[in-house]
Amino acid sequence: MAYESIRGLLGREAAGGSAVVRGWLRSARHAKDVSFLDVSDGSCLSGIQVVAGPETEGFEAVVRHLTTGSAIAAEGRLVDSPGKGQRFEVHAAKVELVGAAGSDYPLQKKRHSFEFLRTIAHLRPRTNTIGAVFRIRNAAAMAIHAFFQQEGFFYLHSPIVTASDAEGAGEMFRVTTLDLESPPRTAEGRVDDAADFFGRPSFLTVSGQLEAEIGALALSRVYTFGPTFRAENSNTARHLAEFWMVEPEVAFCDLDDLAALAERFLKFVFAEVLERCPEDMAFFAERIEPKAIERMRTVIDQPFERIAYREAVEILARSGESFEFPVGFGRDLQSEHERWLTETHVGRPVVVTDWPASIKAFYMYRNDDAETVAAMDVLVGGVGELIGGSQREHRLEKLEATIRAQGLDPADYWWYLDLRRYGSVPHAGFGLGFERLVQFMTGMANIRDVIPFARVPGQAEF
Ligand code: 4AD
Ligand code: MG
Repeated sequence: MAYESIRGLLGREAAGGSAVVRGWLRSARHAKDVSFLDVSDGSCLSGIQVVAGPETEGFEAVVRHLTTGSAIAAEGRLVDSPGKGQRFEVHAAKVELVGAAGSDYPLQKKRHSFEFLRTIAHLRPRTNTIGAVFRIRNAAAMAIHAFFQQEGFFYLHSPIVTASDAEGAGEMFRVTTLDLESPPRTAEGRVDDAADFFGRPSFLTVSGQLEAEIGALALSRVYTFGPTFRAENSNTARHLAEFWMVEPEVAFCDLDDLAALAERFLKFVFAEVLERCPEDMAFFAERIEPKAIERMRTVIDQPFERIAYREAVEILARSGESFEFPVGFGRDLQSEHERWLTETHVGRPVVVTDWPASIKAFYMYRNDDAETVAAMDVLVGGVGELIGGSQREHRLEKLEATIRAQGLDPADYWWYLDLRRYGSVPHAGFGLGFERLVQFMTGMANIRDVIPFARVPGQAEF
């Protein structure tokens, strides 16, 4: 039997044909001599109503006993629905039970809190909201690929296990097969890393950037799109220990070009998602964040503002706002500062450029002022920092000096330094936090609700 989704059924030109529906019951309402089954298969936000009566095969044996959460298959005719808000319904000739759900099925047809849904992350994709989040995730991921492919980028697969700390921040998860109870030891009594699986300490990557740079200095334009891991103990609504990052890297590119790329990129992705997911986006605007669509349109329609970090700090200091965290040159911007800049001060996305070298990673290009680096953060409403990127230090001596100054060992970065020895060129790239992008689009307040299975401190269930 050819697959037909509820999305396909609802998209038909007219009622009248035969229809097959397979999915899960959002609810089952049993009246005298008729049952109304609200069936959803996740292909779109809407479910379809299956109406069964005594003429339906399986009515007494199956239909009358159906409860929420059960999986069914129904066959019948697609008819115009007299009900409000639904175009078609299915009058069932036959209903079969595929998989029953017990009466303890935890999802009932009422609003559950997102906190509760996190505890049943294996069932929450069946809710309207989480289902819509996953369809938006899918559309955004495809839009991201479409954008880069159309701009001549190659999709590069960077490794997940690595020996190098791309951010130099020491927030990595160790990967080991050593017996933690009694690890092999060296003559000096230390744990013998050479006996570990990879012959050295290895970790889950915090970023595919360093490998993307290798790609860019050969294929000119590449991007990675994969999981990244950070062992930072941040219990916030915008941090995950495992998140997906999109990292384009471009040869012969400076910070200006990079900021322009980021702007084109976000505009394209948002336009695609609005175009492909009108039903889901209308749902988010109605139920989650009234401004969800409007603020995506602002990104699409308005030019991004660029502000140098130094100026941003002055604007914040003069703002008269009472921020929780202090502002001043050399301090990182906090979420409250980022959001005030983009939401209140400018009212559209802001690119903050030229950050103090002292608070940024070793690989960033040193500006002539010796104090700042050619870095940028793209800030958007609701989320704050959505993208972080920079022009890379492509001058060998300067890069080596910074690696040393940050207490890292140049020997660990020999291959990265080789790129500066053999045909080095100015290049630049950025990282987009994919979950933060989905948060922005959907208006979901907590990042744990926009990834199928959130990995946060103390939580790795499912
Ligand atoms: O600013 P970050 O740390 O930049 C990098 O990792 C660079 N290597 C990227 C590059 O230039 N290729 O991270 C990039 C983005 C942030 O702007 C944020 O959106 C997201 O990744 N991000 C996180 N998202 C969820 N949970 C976390 N713990 C995140 N940390 C960063
Ligand atoms: Mg950053």
